[in-house]
Amino acid sequence: MKTRMTELYGTEYPIQCGGMMWLATPELAAAVSNAGALGNVTSGIYNSADELRAALDRTRELTSKPFAVNITTMPSIRLSVELLQQYFKVCCEKKVAAIEIAGAPVNTFLGPEYIPMAKEAGVKVVHKVGAVKHAAHAQKVGYDAVIACGFEEAGFPHQDNVGVMVLLPKIVESVDIPVIAAGGMVDGKTLAAVLALGGEGMMMASRFVATKECKVHPNVHKLLLEKTEKDTSLQLRGFLAQWGLQVRALRNEFSRKVEEIEARGGGPEEYIPLMSAELAKKAWEEGECDEAMLTFGQSIGRIYDIPTVAELVDRIVNQAEEALRTSLERVHSR
Ligand SMILES: Cc1cc2nc3c(=O)[nH]c(=O)nc-3n(C[C@H](O)[C@H](O)[C@H](O)COP(=O)(O)O)c2cc1C
Repeated sequence: MKTRMTELYGTEYPIQCGGMMWLATPELAAAVSNAGALGNVTSGIYNSADELRAALDRTRELTSKPFAVNITTMPSIRLSVELLQQYFKVCCEKKVAAIEIAGAPVNTFLGPEYIPMAKEAGVKVVHKVGAVKHAAHAQKVGYDAVIACGFEEAGFPHQDNVGVMVLLPKIVESVDIPVIAAGGMVDGKTLAAVLALGGEGMMMASRFVATKECKVHPNVHKLLLEKTEKDTSLQLRGFLAQWGLQVRALRNEFSRKVEEIEARGGGPEEYIPLMSAELAKKAWEEGECDEAMLTFGQSIGRIYDIPTVAELVDRIVNQAEEALRTSLERVHSR
């Protein structure tokens, strides 16, 4: 399978893993890259440039294939702008295949010199966007590609709430750089749909959690098999409105606590402790899935097993080819 996405990253298949706080580790990234897709090391997991450097070295020991690094450019108590600038420089120094940015544009949040720095190092810079105007801006300031993130996605979808079925073709019609789709992606049928809509490939995250190589407590895998597309909701809409954001996460005891604070108009002093990354870390490790905000997308409604990453990627590629071929046969044979 060759598309502008595989050419951009140098991968075999047009599939990438999205950034995942705590879970997108060197081990998972290498498993994804070794399977022919693009693995992701999420920089937010680390506390210093040296820790990130060591993680990238570890990933290189585990795979000779290309992989990306996620840098989330949002205001954070843990990760200062100076630290994110250092992370960007480490990615350039280590010449990773790509930097996946989520949040504010690199040129304003980190500085105008950062995109040229990546170009000089041969590192691609890709932005996750939820609106056409943000895709157009990314193209204008020199990004190499955008990821059109429908509001089905886990994490921080844009408050415009546009689904990928409209957002993806709309962005494809609006920019010339490659467009990758995210939100609701799980299998070969979704990849075939993305290609039919003019996208160059897909990014998935929740689906990669449901693999043997993603080291979460068994309760998390059990939950992913049981929950449906109705079991996530958009949360923190009021508090995150100042950044045009919201969170899509599992409906659980924790989300009900958040809803209750929202309903009575609670302030930042109540929300900020809830967003502590440490709570989610504990839940992934100990399996207490009601005690943290667990970011999952609507895609969890279509997760039916826990394969290895290689089984998953192979199955997706075969199913996408089959879906593209048989769709035409289906309509012509009637
Ligand atoms: C467990 C988990 C953690 C995530 N953490 C991050 C993160 O730290 N930074 C980020 O940009 N996106 C994060 N995301 C969002 C994904 O990168 C991606 O945009 C989204 O999950 C795609 O939707 P899907 O999960 O339905 O495939 C996370 C997603 C999941 C499932």
